Amino acid sequence: RCSTTVSEYAIDESKRMTMNLLLLGASALPVGYIASGLIQALAPPKKAGEGTTQVAQDISGAFVTASSWLKGHKPGDHSLVQGLNGEPTYLVVTEDNDLQKFAINSVCTHLQCVVPWNAAENKFMCPCHGSQYNSEGTVVRGPAPLPLALAHVATEDDLVQLTQWEELDFRTGGTPWWK
Ligand code: FES
Repeated sequence: RCSTTVSEYAIDESKRMTMNLLLLGASALPVGYIASGLIQALAPPKKAGEGTTQVAQDISGAFVTASSWLKGHKPGDHSLVQGLNGEPTYLVVTEDNDLQKFAINSVCTHLQCVVPWNAAENKFMCPCHGSQYNSEGTVVRGPAPLPLALAHVATEDDLVQLTQWEELDFRTGGTPWWK
């Protein structure tokens, strides 16, 4: 049962980008807009300038600006962008309508499925084997062994920048497993 499900979600780079598309599509982008982004979204992800910082990109490959993102996403929103190394990564809008200072990588730490955000449950819930993570990416139900990876979020000239998280993981107090 699991292997069938995993094959639909388990990750190689093209599948991950496909899931990225699907999840971005689920955020109610117009179909034409999704289609126009298809070619670019399936292209190999851009490499980060120095491997550690990258401007977030939307489904069309356009750089994400904080002002436009906050216009289109309400407090509590968790939506995907293309993050570091093209990984589908959640930007979170805080209750005071700002970008949360950390983004959450959507790749499940069990077998690398992309984990959708479930707003009704206030959790990330993996469709492959049922792992669940709280809104900060901490595991609340296995089999996932580790929390979702983090990235720093900052804005410069309105562009949303993601930077590799190398400090201690504030959720565990330990060294990031993804470092
Ligand atoms: Fe197995 Fe997410 S990949 S629970």
